[in-house]
Order: sequence, then structure tokens, then C-alpha cells
Amino acid sequence: MSYEVKHEGLNQWVREVAEMCQPDDIYWCDGTQEEYDRYMEEMVASGAATPLTKRPNSYLFRSDPSDVARVENRTYISTTRQEDAGPTNNWISPDELKPIMRELYKGCMKGRTMYVIPFSMGPIGSPISKIGIEITDSPYVVCNMHIMTRVGTKVIETLGTDGEFTPCLHSLGAPLAEGEEDVTWPCAPIEQKYIAHFPEENLIWSYGSGYGGNALLGKKCFALRIASVQAKREGWMAEHMLILRLKSPEGKQYHIAAAFPSASGKTNLAMVQPTIPGWEAETIGDDIAWMKIGPDGRLYAINPESGFFGVAPGTSYDSNPMAMETVKENSIFTNCALTDDGDVWWEEIDDNPPPDHLIDWTGKDWTPESDTPAAHPNARFTAPAAQCPIIAPDWEDPAGIPIDIFVFGGRRTQLVPLLFEGFDWEHGVLVGATASSETTAANIGAVGTVRRDPFAMTPFCGYNMGDYFQHWLDMGESLGDKAPRIFYVNWFRRDENGRFIWPGFGENVRALKWMCDRLDGRVGARETPIGLLPEIDDLDLNGLDISRETMEELLHVDVEGWKAEMPGIVEYMERFGDRLPDGIRKELDAMQKRLG
Ligand code: GTP
Ligand code: SPV
Ligand code: MN
Repeated sequence: MSYEVKHEGLNQWVREVAEMCQPDDIYWCDGTQEEYDRYMEEMVASGAATPLTKRPNSYLFRSDPSDVARVENRTYISTTRQEDAGPTNNWISPDELKPIMRELYKGCMKGRTMYVIPFSMGPIGSPISKIGIEITDSPYVVCNMHIMTRVGTKVIETLGTDGEFTPCLHSLGAPLAEGEEDVTWPCAPIEQKYIAHFPEENLIWSYGSGYGGNALLGKKCFALRIASVQAKREGWMAEHMLILRLKSPEGKQYHIAAAFPSASGKTNLAMVQPTIPGWEAETIGDDIAWMKIGPDGRLYAINPESGFFGVAPGTSYDSNPMAMETVKENSIFTNCALTDDGDVWWEEIDDNPPPDHLIDWTGKDWTPESDTPAAHPNARFTAPAAQCPIIAPDWEDPAGIPIDIFVFGGRRTQLVPLLFEGFDWEHGVLVGATASSETTAANIGAVGTVRRDPFAMTPFCGYNMGDYFQHWLDMGESLGDKAPRIFYVNWFRRDENGRFIWPGFGENVRALKWMCDRLDGRVGARETPIGLLPEIDDLDLNGLDISRETMEELLHVDVEGWKAEMPGIVEYMERFGDRLPDGIRKELDAMQKRLG
């Protein structure tokens, strides 16, 4: 052991796991740069990582073609009773799942090293932060966890002899026989993959995948699925939200937390470059917010992560310059394409035509004539948050940042207006609960299939979503008149030719400014059956080339369209049976009445 651990519970868990998984070695991570460099060097030597000559201290990895994203259909909430997982989660009882997984874990680390990673979600010592210990047999996971979380011996010191931690067990599920040569991206076949959560004992067991949220267990597994259960129990909130500070020309600060489904604009909005003169933005987080009521009764948010695991394709100096600056060095790229001069490349990285030759994400030669994308659509960068040029100077403040505004949203080609506000907290909760999003590429120009995605939490809520709605209502009661105001946005309206009718990105700040104006009572709003809509003249559209007609369309409330939407919403809500809060029923009824 490289340092002394006095926590008997932790030592015992590590011993038990080692006995079950039978690794060749056990190594306790210390979080140092030396450790990171050593594992990267080893992975370069083994052929798993490619150093990038164009980006200092940066590396490219290519995954197995079967292991490229989160696997929702292999993700489980394992509670004693099925109703505690609820109708939106896959469920197996612990009694059934644990023996299956124990069988898989038996000897699964043979020929490999078992790494023990002590990590903190949130600044160490913050009253909102929590500690996890990830055991993994993947050095790629070790390096990614170094960037995404706070890894190190300070965590072990903080744990002391009996501190609380969430055990996170991860294995690639690819033991090596004596003398067997390793592949560059070991993993198990899909039917052996399990991403399992046991919220009744704060435990995570992941098997068979090395990719993203399946393997970096601090992220969706701990910081959302397990933490959402803890938050409900302990009276705080764990949400799938970016955190952003907006500063007006007068120097006033507004703090916004926004929940959009995966690949729907969180990282982009977190790093927004405002187009209204004098307004500035600072990034605090791009994916997850943990929020607690502070001594003054307001809701304080921290970003539990310390890095960004962002979608690469589509990221450019045009769409998200701050992300491009963030990934200039010290970054890990997964499933991007490789240029002949040793840089990464992905679709829409710039306006130039693609290079004549690339190595694509599968390791094969690629030319512009190829009919497959060079980067996988879910190719990702892992980069330290501190490298973002507009990271807020106090982004690691242990006290957190007081949230003024909640924003929900999703992709809707039609119907849902650009922007509206909830009438009050209870109605705002209904607005979040009825959030919806369309699948993208396949639906251009057509009305797509609507997927209900309450609070953008469908794949990430660790308990019955009906109870989660109740938790939101309860938080509103606790917060009273200090509760953040609730808004809804849709950047994704399209015309009959499939073109976006709202310019989006930096121009989204025009919607955010209206929210700030509402908070300060500078503007009124138009009452409609779905909520409070902006008057066009109250939106700051200076310098934006958009017609009044388009704005009218963006802010139109199509009452007949909404009426047609209601049966689907009611049907969705009825799935929760008696777990559906009365507060939601009441708001649904009121909405039906307003629509007439
Ligand atoms: P995850 O990291 O998977 O949770 O995704 P995310 O919510 O962080 O989404 P991200 O910001 O990476 O954006 C996903 C896609 O949406 C990218 O292709 C963006 O270019 C696109 N996008 C983001 N904001 C806007 C916008 O305002 N308008 C339009 N039209 N597209 C946008
Ligand atoms: C998402 O899918 O919402 C992500 C990527 O942020 S992952 O970490 O893989 O969950
Ligand atoms: Mn993101």
C-alpha cells in the first residue's frame, strides 16, 4: 500500500472485492500528476492511447465499437420493492441481481491491477460535498477520474476512521488468462453489461463497460442516481443541471441552473458568450448541480465535478469557443478522428472542408468520400474545468452559489414556445415534470416522436419519479418566497424546411436577460394557458436579424396543439398511480381548465 488507510470499513470492502475479483495487484491512487503521467505512459506503450502532437499532454483513445455510450437498457435501480424504482427505471431485486453480478465479478480482474480511487464530488470539505471510492481495473478510468473528480490522499484524510463514503465497484469484465495479450479497449459483451445501483445501501456495481457514465462512476451513477435518493432523504437536490452566472452591465449577478436532456445544449449554455453588449457569463458547471438550502434560506448550488465530459462533434470556435479553448491541452479525447499531423478532428469542428485523410474512430483510414462519420457521434472530450477561460473565479466556493433561476427545456421542432415562465413554484414543477424532447437527426422537418423527460432526469433518477415530483413540491414549501423562479425554453423550433428559426447559442442570452428582467420586475408578461409569455417588445433583440413574424411564431401559444398534447401527458402521469402527488394532479387539472 502506498499510504496508510485507517478506515476499517473501507479496508474491509477493498479486501472483499480483491478476494472476489482476484486482481494481480492492488494499487491505491494518490491523485498526483506523477501518477496520471505514469498511467498515460503505460497506456501509450500498450497502444491504448495515442499522444497528440498538436495538443500538449493530450491523448486519443478508441473504444471497442460495441462500447460507445451509456447503456440505459442495461442500467438498473435495484431496490427491495419494485415500486421504489418506479415505472421509469429498469428494476431487478438485489436478491436476484447480486448473485448474477457476483458470478461475473468472480476472478474478473485476473491479469490486471485493481486501482482504488478515493474521490470527492464537490470541493473537499464543503458541507454539500460527498466522498466516493471507486475500485476499477481500468487505468483509463483512473486518468479520467483524475480530471472529472477530486482524487487524492486528502480524501482519505477527510474520511478518517469512520467517515461516510459511497462504494463504487467497476470492472471492465475482461480478465486475462496467463500469457494472454490485452486488447486496446477491453470490455464485456452487451448481455453481460450491468450498471447497477443499490440505493438502499448507497452502493454502485458496474460491470462490462469502460465508457463514460458506465465507468466513471462519480458522474451519473453517484452524483445523480445515488445522490438523488440521498437528496430526497436528506432534504436537498441532485439535478442534471448546468450552473451559470450572468452579469449585467450594471454589475448585478444572476445565477441560473438549467436542466436539458443529454445532447440538448447544457455544455453550450454553460459556456455561453452573450451577444448583448455589456453582459458577461461565467461557467460554474456543465452537467450536474447539487443544491442545499443555506443559512439564509436560499438554495445554494455546487458543481460536484471538476472536469467536463463533453460531446465533441459539433463543438467549434463558432458554436462553443470556450469549450475549444478548454480542450487545448491536458485533455483526453475518446472516439474522435486523428489527423495526419497528430491532432483530433470531428464533424463540424470548423468551416473548412475535412482533411484529405484521417484515421477514423475505429482506427481505419478515412477520406471525405467515406460514407461514415470520422468521429463517433458520441465522441467526447475530458478536460479540466479550471481550463475554461470563463470559469467563475469562485466556482469551487464550498458554500456554493445562490440560485435565482431554474430553466427546463428540451428539443421540440413544433408547438413549445421559445420561452415562458411558470405562474408559481407548483406550476413550475408541473412545467418541469411535463418537459419533453424529440429525437433529432431522423426528424428534421417533421414532427418527431415526443419522449417525456421530466426535469431531464428520466435516465438519472434513482427512485420513483412520482416521489421525485413530490420532493420538488416539498423543496418549494421549504424555500417559500426564497425559491428560484422557474422558466422553460426551447431553442430548437424549426421551419417547414427543417431550419432552426431561433439562432441559438450566444443569442440565447436574450431569453436569459428576459428572465433577469422578470426577477427585477422590469417587465410584465402575457398570461396564457401554459404560462407567462414575453411580450416581443420586452425582449432585447437589438442587433439580431430576426423578423417580427418569426418572433411571433416563436412566442405563439397554439391552444389547440396543447390540447392535443394533454392526453399523452395525462397517460404518462397515470403510470405513477398513487405515487403521483396530489399537487401534480391539481396543476394538471388547472391546466386542462385553462386550455378549455
Ligand atoms: P450531454 O453532455 O450529453 O449531457 O449534452 P449537453 O446537454 O451538454 O449538450 P451540448 O451542449 O453538448 O449540445 C448538444 C448538441 O446541441 C450540439 O450538437 C450543439 O451544437 C447543439 N446545440 C446546443 N445549443 C444549441 C442551440 O442553442 N441551438 C441549436 N440549434 N443547437 C444547439
Ligand atoms: C450524458 O449522456 O448525459 C453524458 C455522458 O453526460 S455520460 O457521462 O456518458 O453519461
Ligand atoms: Mn454536456
